[in-house]
Amino acid sequence: MSDREPIPLAQRVRLVFEDITTLKVDAIVNAANNLLIGGGGVDGAIQRAAGPALMTECRLLGGCATGSAKITKGYNLPASYVIHTVGPIWRGGDQGEPELLASCYRNCFKLAKKYRLNTIAFPAISTGTYGYPKEAAADVAIRETKKALKANPQLELVIFCCYDAANRAVCEKAFQERI
Ligand code: APR
Repeated sequence: MSDREPIPLAQRVRLVFEDITTLKVDAIVNAANNLLIGGGGVDGAIQRAAGPALMTECRLLGGCATGSAKITKGYNLPASYVIHTVGPIWRGGDQGEPELLASCYRNCFKLAKKYRLNTIAFPAISTGTYGYPKEAAADVAIRETKKALKANPQLELVIFCCYDAANRAVCEKAFQERI
């Protein structure tokens, strides 16, 4: 048995209000589309900051199903890896959206474990172009993150990167209540 005290969960999760492309972590997560061909929002920002080699690698991946995740190198980013996941498009909530969003987080955490990553940063997947309600999305993110932190002691830090002002208020409230 290890004689080290486990680090409290709350110290392994952080909320930041920055551009995710500036974070020096093992992996940042991209809210991508099924074809992995880039787009606007966080996807566009990541592709621009990483440089064209990222798109070249993405083109070799054969797309990504909604709820799944694929990993590439980070190229010009400070992060070593990018984990591309595809969130669900919000269609009212009864088309499996909550399960698909949870699956995004679970599959990102699976890759984090497989690649032995210590630090990972998430944007608010699906809450921009894909229209997922921000509160409900934050609940899913927090629930899945807590499970992953309990299951994977190697994971030192999970960062939630809230970029826009609307997300900031929602994330702060969800954090105060749930972490
Ligand atoms: N850093 C962190 N978060 C960001 C950044 C950034 N640089 N830019 C945008 N965001 C935030 C948005 O404010 C939003 O809360 O990312 C969240 C997700 O929004 P989108 O990027 O629109 O992602 P999503 O809703 O999952 O839609 C995916 O948009 O860009 C396309 O190719 C992508 O088709 C896919 C779709």
